[in-house]
Amino acid sequence: MPNDLARPDHDSRVVAEELRDVLAEALAGHRVEALAGRVARLIEAYRSGSVPASVILDDPVTVAAYAAYRMPATVAALRSVLEQASVAVPSLRVRRLVDLGGGTGAAGWAVAAWAPELEQVDVLEQSEPARTLGARLARGSSVAGLRESRWHAWTLGLSARPGAPGDVADLATLSYVVGELPDALRHEAVATAMAAASTVLVVEPGTPAGYRRVLEARDLLLGGGFEVAAPCPHQLDCPLVGDDWCHLPAHVERSALHRAVKGGELSYEDEKFSYVLATRLPVEPYAARVIRHPMIRKGLVGLPLCQADGTAAQRLVSKRQGADYKQARKLEWGDCLPG
Ligand SMILES: C[S@@+](CC[C@H](N)C(=O)[O-])C[C@H]1O[C@@H](n2cnc3c(N)ncnc32)[C@H](O)[C@@H]1O
Repeated sequence: MPNDLARPDHDSRVVAEELRDVLAEALAGHRVEALAGRVARLIEAYRSGSVPASVILDDPVTVAAYAAYRMPATVAALRSVLEQASVAVPSLRVRRLVDLGGGTGAAGWAVAAWAPELEQVDVLEQSEPARTLGARLARGSSVAGLRESRWHAWTLGLSARPGAPGDVADLATLSYVVGELPDALRHEAVATAMAAASTVLVVEPGTPAGYRRVLEARDLLLGGGFEVAAPCPHQLDCPLVGDDWCHLPAHVERSALHRAVKGGELSYEDEKFSYVLATRLPVEPYAARVIRHPMIRKGLVGLPLCQADGTAAQRLVSKRQGADYKQARKLEWGDCLPG
């Protein structure tokens, strides 16, 4: 179903615009050329796919560059997942968010734009300059729960797990974190998220390697008694084989700052990401998810689907099918079909 289930009485656009403005204000003291140089280095480091030997976000300029080019894209990806959560886990209400390896706190901004009920955000992060900038940005939000976020010095594998046993938040996020961790810590990261909250979201870059890490996290979540809510309409093995991998696009509006530090001309970009959303709450069954751009021909729509029976297939819907065709024409990559 096209995902038009915007949560009522909450203007998510306001939150997105606020983030753009607080980023511009907080980073105004940095030379754009310096930020652009760090962005280029960060892109190279992340593209290499290797586990970093030391903390990447280790100084204020690198952190500022990271926030400028990654926060808008990360917020867009997480917002798009949360829209799927509205469909797949209708009872999910995020009063408390725990953001593990939260960096400059993008997850809090995404959740604040979606969950009017948000009361408490705990960001756990090893990098001191990331915590400092993230806290400053959050203080510029009009959403009280985000403005009053708590920032904790925390290193996975060294620090204790967050919270007291049984103290369970509504949502734990591992947003673009797992890829920075050595194998042993990936398991610990997912286990920590499962202990911290009743719903867990793991997001990784939409590359074959990111997708494989998401699959690994999915297995751990299923093994921990969570149910997969999205993107898969089933709990079975992923049907994609060979060179194919599950990933989705999120539309990102680029601000002037974003364009300047990334050296791009376009006013938008597509953030490709892979993710798994798993929960202990009831999951609303759905028939299938569109896992690529639909093929549109005259009088015919081809929907590449992952289906509730655990198979992947292209479904053709012709104009002769009336209402189904009209519905199919509206579907986009990432949408789900009702059960
Ligand atoms: C690519 S950034 C993502 C930041 C943020 N979650 C986001 O989506 O914008 C990866 C983050 O993971 C953090 N990180 C990596 N290893 C960590 C560890 N062992 N303990 C805590 N944080 C860690 C890094 O410091 C960094 O902030």
